[in-house]
Amino acid sequence: MICKSLSKVLTFCILATAAACVSCFNEDDDVVPWVEVKVDINTLDAKYIDLQNPTGRVIIKNEGYGGNGIIVYHTFDNNFNAFDCTCTYEVSDTCAVVLDEGNIAGAVCPVCGSKFELINCGMPTSGKARHSLKSYRVSYNEPYLHIFN
Ligand code: FES
Repeated sequence: MICKSLSKVLTFCILATAAACVSCFNEDDDVVPWVEVKVDINTLDAKYIDLQNPTGRVIIKNEGYGGNGIIVYHTFDNNFNAFDCTCTYEVSDTCAVVLDEGNIAGAVCPVCGSKFELINCGMPTSGKARHSLKSYRVSYNEPYLHIFN
């Protein structure tokens, strides 16, 4: 009886650990060139205050590929995702997505109209883009966010 319970607990721990390790970071699907990213922000800073609550989003300007910016998104389950703003349809330092005002978990390219889902690893949902936004790693040590690759 104790063995069965222990087995269930171990199975749960393994699955929980595996789920915690899953992130949007996937270099294999990147169409946006690698640039070094090391950004630290204080989420209590007034310009990042939107990150205090789940579904909050901000763009950190002049970072990422071509200085296009990095979107940080506070997920429903209290994690943070970070994406390069470079539109993946036509990778350029002049084509950057912006926050989609019609979708609290979305980003949109103002030039080609491609839409991306921040809640779903930056996956394109409509428009010409076929690749997800480039993801960066994020670590959180309240109230500091470290974004890196
Ligand atoms: S890529 Fe140049 S427009 Fe979306």
